[in-house]
Amino acid sequence: MSSCPFHAAAPAPAPAAAPADPDAELAFLAEAHPAGVKPEWRARLAAALAAGEPAPLTAAELTWAGRIAWRNHARCIGRLYWRQLEVRDRRGLEHPDDLATSLREHLELAQGAGTVRSYLTVFAPPDGPGGPAPRIWNAQLCGYAGHPRPGGGILGDPANAAFTRLAGRLGWAPPGEPTAFDLLPWILSGRDGKPRLYPLPAGLIREVPLAHPEFPGFARLGLRWYAVPVVSGMRFHAAGTDFPAAPFNGWYMGTEIGARNLADTGRYNLLPAVADLLGLDRRHPRTLWQDRALLELNAAVLHSYAAAGVTLVDHHSASEEFLRFCSREEAAGRAVSARWDWIVPPISASATRVFHTPMREFPTTPDFHSQPPPEGLA
Ligand code: ARG
Repeated sequence: MSSCPFHAAAPAPAPAAAPADPDAELAFLAEAHPAGVKPEWRARLAAALAAGEPAPLTAAELTWAGRIAWRNHARCIGRLYWRQLEVRDRRGLEHPDDLATSLREHLELAQGAGTVRSYLTVFAPPDGPGGPAPRIWNAQLCGYAGHPRPGGGILGDPANAAFTRLAGRLGWAPPGEPTAFDLLPWILSGRDGKPRLYPLPAGLIREVPLAHPEFPGFARLGLRWYAVPVVSGMRFHAAGTDFPAAPFNGWYMGTEIGARNLADTGRYNLLPAVADLLGLDRRHPRTLWQDRALLELNAAVLHSYAAAGVTLVDHHSASEEFLRFCSREEAAGRAVSARWDWIVPPISASATRVFHTPMREFPTTPDFHSQPPPEGLA
């Protein structure tokens, strides 16, 4: 893994914040109740907060908390659309079988017929402070296995090597000979913390085969990626409560796939193969073979998702949308917390306006946070 601060894995998350400040935690209520927050509504939530109990949010309050968490999230360039988030209140679900059923629905709703819609599904929180809550062990609902190769190295996605090992211990095997793009099953746990395996019904996850508009040979690389990123490893924090199982999705920005997942040396590491396909001279970095390969790989991603009718935004448009978001927030009297190293796209950075925009990050609530993986996966 790279040790570059801009691309390094997220630092170990701080443990769930100590005594929460009720004013900060409950400020979002004003937006959930534009006609005014009745003192008893606030008092009810403040009492739960003081007692360390799960916040008794109404479904409408949960919806606003979800939208505002997206709006607040410092690492997301796609926040212009925060009001469109659909929130599914499934706080009553804690058995892994019920989570699995609900996760299938989440995927189907999000994928739609190709026009991706953003959803957040909120499952049961811990029943008391530090208590057990259901967990989704997958970092995302869609992901490809990383199989150890006999001669060393990984076939597939190295980011999922540990998860693939655990799935194997629980009895999972790819449907045929291992390939570089075997969709992983889900591993879910309920309040007992015990991991259970949920193989996915065939056809549930939509994928996009990658082709290049000008290089017919590109399709022979056999590359593909899934349609929708549904982040399932982060905790949703709202009104002083942590929801460790709260998967959410947006749609992809092309560079996430073309400049990171398929290109990073610690991931699919495909730049040499793409460069060879393009007939580039790889003997010296100054031929810019890596840059050219990156560019064409990203062109293939943009072309293929558009051809398949699956929503995906290019990094230039996303940069402009983010700046529109910032202007709207300013007009609403709100400061935007943002991390420059996450917002700026990994290719052609200086050709996007976000590169030239100073940003600062500050704590916000509600928000989404990274959390340690369940014990047994780390
Ligand atoms: N970067 C992650 C991936 O490539 C997805 C993170 C969420 N991205 C999004 N566009 N909502 O799979």
